[in-house]
Amino acid sequence: MKLLFLSSCVFWFSVQAFAQKIPDYKNKNLSIDKRVEDLIQRMTLEEKVLQLNQWAYGRNTNVNNIEEKKRAVRPEIGSLIFQSVNPVFRNQVQRKAIEESRLGIPMLMGFDIIHGCRTVYPIPLAQACSFNPDLATQACAVAAKESKLSGLDWTFSPMVDVARDARWGRVAEGYGEDTYLNSVFSAASVKGYQGKSLADPYSIAACLKHYIGYSLSEGGRDYHSSDVSPQTLWETFMPPFEAGVKAGAATLMSGFNDISGIPASANYYTLTDVLKKQWKHTGFVVSDWGSVANLIPQGFAADKKEAAYKSFMAGVEMDMVDNLYTEYLAELVNEKKIPMSKIDDAVKRVLQLKFQLGLFDKPYVVELPESERYFKPEDVAIAAKMAEESMVLLKNNNATLPLNSNVKQIALIGPMVKDSVNMLGSWAEHGIPSTVETIYAGLQKEFKNKANINYALGCDFDGNDESGFEAALEAAKNVDVIIACIGERKKWSGENASRSSIALPAIQERLIEALKKTGKPLILVLSNGRPLELVRLEPLADAILEIWQPGIAGGTPLAQIISGKINPSGKLAITFPLTTGQIPVYYNSRQPARPTLGRYQDISTQPKYWFGHGLSYTNFAYGDIKLSNTKIRKTEKLTAEIEITNSGAMTGKETVLWYVSDPSASITRPLKELKYFEKKELKIGEKRKFVFEIDPLRDLSFPDGTGKRHLEAGDFYLMVNNQKVKFELVD
Ligand code: BGC
Repeated sequence: MKLLFLSSCVFWFSVQAFAQKIPDYKNKNLSIDKRVEDLIQRMTLEEKVLQLNQWAYGRNTNVNNIEEKKRAVRPEIGSLIFQSVNPVFRNQVQRKAIEESRLGIPMLMGFDIIHGCRTVYPIPLAQACSFNPDLATQACAVAAKESKLSGLDWTFSPMVDVARDARWGRVAEGYGEDTYLNSVFSAASVKGYQGKSLADPYSIAACLKHYIGYSLSEGGRDYHSSDVSPQTLWETFMPPFEAGVKAGAATLMSGFNDISGIPASANYYTLTDVLKKQWKHTGFVVSDWGSVANLIPQGFAADKKEAAYKSFMAGVEMDMVDNLYTEYLAELVNEKKIPMSKIDDAVKRVLQLKFQLGLFDKPYVVELPESERYFKPEDVAIAAKMAEESMVLLKNNNATLPLNSNVKQIALIGPMVKDSVNMLGSWAEHGIPSTVETIYAGLQKEFKNKANINYALGCDFDGNDESGFEAALEAAKNVDVIIACIGERKKWSGENASRSSIALPAIQERLIEALKKTGKPLILVLSNGRPLELVRLEPLADAILEIWQPGIAGGTPLAQIISGKINPSGKLAITFPLTTGQIPVYYNSRQPARPTLGRYQDISTQPKYWFGHGLSYTNFAYGDIKLSNTKIRKTEKLTAEIEITNSGAMTGKETVLWYVSDPSASITRPLKELKYFEKKELKIGEKRKFVFEIDPLRDLSFPDGTGKRHLEAGDFYLMVNNQKVKFELVD
């Protein structure tokens, strides 16, 4: 008995000793909730506030200066924008957090990995044109792995702002004009970045941005206010964010924009009522760069302290680089303006992610040499596949493409031919131009021993220098075909890259006019980050291929589309307006009062290319839409099928886009809305069935301005290609 008593005492004392040595928050065997709870009650107010701040850790390529940079970082800071790809630097600063702060809380390293880290893949707008979300998941997983190996834990991606104004440079960063397409890619990319679990070695946290309505910046001018009606907010902008939250996105970024009077970075309704209360998001919101302080110029806060107060109280948990939370939150708590419980809730959200990522238990990343971190062949293959599937054949008169075997002389002309900088697109901060396979390299490789390539620059992207025209015409003299590669510099799209005209600079148009005069077949290859005004260029071209900004691996896919080894399969995720003045023009606008009137008198009513447009080298013959019923109850499902035959002479991929139209409702509906899509490959002569199961609650209901969904009985139409079939929904 005595012995038993003694041994239980020993056990009790050793448990106590263990407990004293290892605080609960450091105990891997406890739940994340317990660890967070334990840690928060140990933290001072100052330590808590520092967790809610993000500083920038400058791009530092000088190894000798790293100590200085490191010293400037406070060890208690919650997060850093880590602008390096050097895991050694990351571990050095992280060591500072672990060893020099009282509680050893690791920092969260975030950065904009928007379309790949070193292995840069096509811009998001291009990815959406692939209509292949699985490929986006794979690409994001590659980005996550390379980011992790570079020292990152968190990317400020995906951008899921539905964008319909091509003057706004940031259309490049999102998934185009359609809400459903953005929602699908939102979930797909979150899945890619975050993997099965945030704790996986190559998972990083995703960040849905820019919550919300940012793409409606007035006139496409970046950073301007956006007038978003409650109806549009719920109908157009909320779904991609909701889809990302449902997919588990750890964080969101609040936008710069003023949403009809209440800025996005201080909007209690969107940040707290909707995101935290309704959608039950348990992660956190980071402000956009400086968007807390921006409340002052926006006229929503009189001074910095009020800006910090308003953002924080609205539901922005982390202040990106403004440093206003560090300066004012503690003061606001001491003045009893901000309750401690709100600080604790914010800190809990931040710490929770750090635990989920495993940072407390494994704060350091593996330090591999650069040569072992990036460009694995299987990862580059994903970038190439994405480039291939995102290229869109816009025009192909008289089967100009693919080139036939009689073509022996090719003129390859234009500022994009040998470009390796602009093909990377905006936000490819860690991309290296020398790793880009240029158009020139791709074509040289593909046409080696088959055709001779005459190259000429022709002209620069802009300016007025036509001195290269003569050499271009000379290069085009005795050829069978001219391939002219033109487009935008990468800085012409992306952030703070609004344009009053989406036409290419006149010099490029003049080059094409000059080339047209040769009378040779003329193929245009376009590389750009937004839809272009092609009203003058399109009539000059026999074929047009949109390659967007394809990243590092676009050269070969492009060359193989030209040679016919690859059948193009991309479709536009955004409408190409006829002229800039036609903006906004998108497929799912509301129905006009007088459908045939009220249009611009000076141009056609039609844009140049609608959303969903994209040609193939083969023909897909669509059978009739078959419905399992023509009348269903609200609780029943309706199955729609269509059989498609590849009736052409080449294997190809077809994406079937299923639209629904609701001609009469208590809140008017858009002309048609994409509800589902599916992409499949069909061999020559092959028939395949495409099926869409309509779930009335999901596919036929619509939100009102409060987000409440309505499902109303009545007639609906299902639309595919040029077909339209009616069905009825009854109570
Ligand atoms: C952009 C964000 C970006 C942030 C951090 C801001 O200027 O609007 O999209 O994530 O900077 O780089």
